[in-house]
Amino acid sequence: MNMTEYKNEVLKAIQERRSVFQPNFTDQEISKEDLLLILEAATAAPTHKRTQPWRFVVFRNEGIRRLGTELGRIYKEITPLEKYTEMMEQNMVKKATQSNVAIAIVVNYTNELPEWEELAATACAVQNLWLAAHSLGLGGYWSSPGLINHLGEFLDLQENQKCIGLFYLGHHQTDAREPVRAPLEDKVRWEE
Ligand SMILES: Cc1cc2nc3c(=O)[nH]c(=O)nc-3n(C[C@H](O)[C@H](O)[C@H](O)COP(=O)(O)O)c2cc1C
Repeated sequence: MNMTEYKNEVLKAIQERRSVFQPNFTDQEISKEDLLLILEAATAAPTHKRTQPWRFVVFRNEGIRRLGTELGRIYKEITPLEKYTEMMEQNMVKKATQSNVAIAIVVNYTNELPEWEELAATACAVQNLWLAAHSLGLGGYWSSPGLINHLGEFLDLQENQKCIGLFYLGHHQTDAREPVRAPLEDKVRWEE
């Protein structure tokens, strides 16, 4: 699809949103105002029975440094000695410290619905968050390393809550690029 011709701004944002990673982040601060817009967009996601199962923990400044330290600590703790490298530990720390903001994505399971519905609704919220960030000129991505399963205590999660990722965010300098996707025909069957 031609990147310059979209019928409206929503379709344009959907097509132009990309994953943007730490090497492309700049040091520029993300304002609290922008973060609130992003989080309000997330919470506007659809949800069966309006259980609104998404929860977010926002890390900035000293908070994001604490997150980095914790990610390094967990990596060291859970990685078998023969697989452990100091470089990987530092990489884990850097994912946080080279981002301006990290948002822990948490599902709050309620028992009111099948778990998959709460998970699906939370993913809808993340897509809203991602598109809102993109619309404000921010970049980021959903990171889901295995060690997010060990963040419960650090995030102060309850028994019915699960962290399903960290969304790293930053201002960035990245050129627009086309999405890499298989053709629509591979995924859609028309019955008419
Ligand atoms: C649920 C989910 C988990 C993801 N986890 C990771 C991850 O752990 N590391 C990573 O580099 N990208 C991760 N991504 C980003 C995808 O790799 C990315 O969206 C995909 O390559 C498509 O690129 P685009 O976002 O630029 O369209 C994740 C995306 C989703 C939806």
